[in-house]
Amino acid sequence: MKNLTLFSLALFSILLFSCGSGNNESNDATSQNQEINEPEVPKSIAEGKGIGEITQVELSDEIDTGMVKMGKSIYDMKCSACHKLTDQRVVGPGFQGVTNRRKPEWIMNMITNVEVMLDQDPAAQKMLEECLTRMPNQNVSIGDARNILEFLRNNDMETAGEKDGATS
Ligand code: HEC
Repeated sequence: MKNLTLFSLALFSILLFSCGSGNNESNDATSQNQEINEPEVPKSIAEGKGIGEITQVELSDEIDTGMVKMGKSIYDMKCSACHKLTDQRVVGPGFQGVTNRRKPEWIMNMITNVEVMLDQDPAAQKMLEECLTRMPNQNVSIGDARNILEFLRNNDMETAGEKDGATS
């Protein structure tokens, strides 16, 4: 009887020990996984440049009127139904002052990579909450997006009196 009690005690402590160490291991594994899965804010989002192919845009202070003209013709065709050139919202926000509140990279990523921007960029998501319409992909090339940016810079000079206010 005494032997049996000792045996049970020994067995109990083995079970306790193995169970305890097993738990510790799984705890460690979980916390490691959590560290790995922790979503890191991509640098481009943190810098206000959005997400997409455009990481750096060089602007010269002088506006290129040829690019403005090409940008305007795309705006007339593909954007004007939803975006006015004043600060008035139609479906999307009015374009007045857009280069003073958004970086040029962000604007071009929004034009060329709108699905991902609406899914992942906090500023784009916030606008979506206000506008309640997802801006559709307009199949604009990067070159044309640059022309539109020039058109928007020109529009900001005409409607807001200043441009590129968001450029760091
Ligand atoms: C069917 C309507 C629609 C069309 C067409 C459209 N957009 Fe948009 N746009 C939106 C909406 C709505 C938003 C706000 C974000 C959202 O809800 O998707 C937006 C947001 C934007 C923004 C951000 C504005 C800000 O104040 O930060 C830019 C820049 C932009 N659009 C550019 C364009 C350009 C350039 C075109 C044409 C090539 C275009 N959009 C065509 C609906 C549209």
